[in-house]
Amino acid sequence: MCAPERAAIESDEQAYLEPFAIQAFAALDAVRDLKGLDACRVELLGKSGIVTRLLKDAGTLTVAERPIRAALRNRLKEKVTAELEVLRARLEEAALTARLSAERLDISAPTRPEPAGMIHPISRTMEEIVAIFGAMGFALKEGPDIEDDWTNFGALNIPAHHPARAMMDTFYLNASIGNRPAVLRTHTSPVQIRTMLAWAKAQASGTEPAPIRIIVPGRTFRADHDATHSPMFHQTEGLVIGRDITLAHLKGCLIDFLRAFFNEPDLPVRFRASYFPFTEPSMEVDIGWSRKTGEIGQGSDWLEILGSGMVHPNVLANCGIDPRNFQGFAFGVGIERITMLKYGIPDLRLFYESDVRWLRHYGFSPLAQANLHEGI
Ligand code: DAH
Repeated sequence: MCAPERAAIESDEQAYLEPFAIQAFAALDAVRDLKGLDACRVELLGKSGIVTRLLKDAGTLTVAERPIRAALRNRLKEKVTAELEVLRARLEEAALTARLSAERLDISAPTRPEPAGMIHPISRTMEEIVAIFGAMGFALKEGPDIEDDWTNFGALNIPAHHPARAMMDTFYLNASIGNRPAVLRTHTSPVQIRTMLAWAKAQASGTEPAPIRIIVPGRTFRADHDATHSPMFHQTEGLVIGRDITLAHLKGCLIDFLRAFFNEPDLPVRFRASYFPFTEPSMEVDIGWSRKTGEIGQGSDWLEILGSGMVHPNVLANCGIDPRNFQGFAFGVGIERITMLKYGIPDLRLFYESDVRWLRHYGFSPLAQANLHEGI
């Protein structure tokens, strides 16, 4: 195509586009806010917008004219798009400025007196125990409140009709798990069984898993209710199993734990022979205190704190662990009891009354997490 011919088509197209361009820029001029801007964008560049239609129609032009006319239509589209962007930036800034001046904050206003929540002493003690044993490399583990009676008793070497079952005043549920009666767990010890069963299974499937080292806080249940007993209470279980775990490890761990928990680096600790069906030998652990003043670590009296022992070979065997190759220790501690001792809380029943005044007095700030960095 020769140049004059081309120029003729261009000026014809410009004349054709002019009213559309005037309409488009008039629409842009009329935009006052962001909502109007969106409507305008649809009107011009939407699916059947004015500019969009011009570009679509270019498809019907002759092959010779199409590139010349389409180029001009594209230029119009670019101008409109650029103008929309400029407008958007300007309107957004104006909207922000308006909002900032409308929403001025009075930073000198006093805070609203909202009562801060508090961490319950039971939770605090469990967190402290987990922090202390966590620092020794124990992993946190939990188990269900409802167990079958084999996991709660049988596997722990407490056979049917054993006095320990009566001793624990078990809540039997009107249900069974598999073909075993379901109970509310009377202690956290069944989590030992769950952990060892899973560990033995993993071992049987090939590679030997890392030794067991768990700390298990949780709820426990016994049909008991007086000033020092509640039908629902809390315990924390500990279990360590490996090829060469000895009584010396048990003593070292528990002495360290008790001294850290009670914040008494020289706290006297005594191991006293005792009996539990699931440990052999079994030991009760006592700490020094003064019966007269109630002070922990002072005086010449002893106070029973927790039960412990070397895991009974029958318990290992019940879980599929060969007692000739593996051994370890376990312990169980009552959370309410050591919490009352540590913080001088006199009555067990108040733990569960949800009296906000009591919680405000004995509770802990949620921001002060239990950790060993500043002592516990
Ligand atoms: N399960 C026992 C109880 O509830 C506490 C206990 C004693 C747990 C000795 C242990 C242990 O793991 O070795 O009275």
